Amino acid sequence: MSFRKKVVIEPIPKSMTTSTPHILMCPPDFYGIEYEINPWMSRHRQADQPLAMEQWNALRRLLIDIGAEISLLEPVQGLPDLVFTANAALIFQNRAVLSHFRHPQRQREQPRNETWLSAAGFTVEPAPEGTCFEGAGDALFCGDTLFAGYRIRSDATGHQKIGELLDCRVIPLELVDPFFYHIDTCFCPLAAGKALYFPPAFDEYGQRVLAELVDELIEVSAEEARRFACNAVVVGNAVVTNTGCAELHAQLKSQGFHPHETPLDEFVKAGGSAKCLTLRLDGEEAAAWKYQEPARRIQP
Ligand code: ARG
Repeated sequence: MSFRKKVVIEPIPKSMTTSTPHILMCPPDFYGIEYEINPWMSRHRQADQPLAMEQWNALRRLLIDIGAEISLLEPVQGLPDLVFTANAALIFQNRAVLSHFRHPQRQREQPRNETWLSAAGFTVEPAPEGTCFEGAGDALFCGDTLFAGYRIRSDATGHQKIGELLDCRVIPLELVDPFFYHIDTCFCPLAAGKALYFPPAFDEYGQRVLAELVDELIEVSAEEARRFACNAVVVGNAVVTNTGCAELHAQLKSQGFHPHETPLDEFVKAGGSAKCLTLRLDGEEAAAWKYQEPARRIQP
């Protein structure tokens, strides 16, 4: 029996930006700091639940205002980190490579992610066998290349296999600072050939590779990196971050982007911010494949 929704493939001219930006979020009804799996988290520094809800709603409203359509994953009691939908999977065309989390506490999210993504019409593929992989949190397209963070959460061997599976170039980058444990905390593609990054989160080799492969890199300061400046949501020319990233916003403005800020401190307590709270279902702005493939729409 199939419970997949009907997917309509509509060919569109390559030159046009594709469909409405489509983002998956999960309301923070059961969000909290229930365990400690990164250095931001302390059970002694609990999230303020109503405030978290307010901040999440403000992010959602802002994303809608800048043109995104939001789909929701149902929150589940006992899965406090399910709000971080970036970690559900890596999206590539109509395929979703499902995460297999490093920590058992988050492995319990996997069936929920799988059910939602397959019901939405994606072809869901498991993470490469025997490897940990934390989805878009650790794998971001910039142009044709998938930049993938490893060591702290995801495994380098898995990244290579994902490259074979999706037939794309993968550049595994070692993450060396436990505060920047997912690549989306220290690197953010803005467009093909253009990205934000926080260099000290990478080893010297990684920094060199990034400088070689990405034409324009905007460096984020240590202070703003700790405000999760790199954990930005890009929708068209709009770039959404946590508050406290004024320097980056000024740089973005001078380059023709439209930066927006919204307070997300309650989520920083768990080691997450704007980007972590979203999963781009139609492909990130910077992903070249998005402009090469026919638009894919999911029918309700
Ligand atoms: N507490 C969560 C964890 O440690 C936060 C995840 C943040 N997600 C992200 N894509 N960086 O797994």
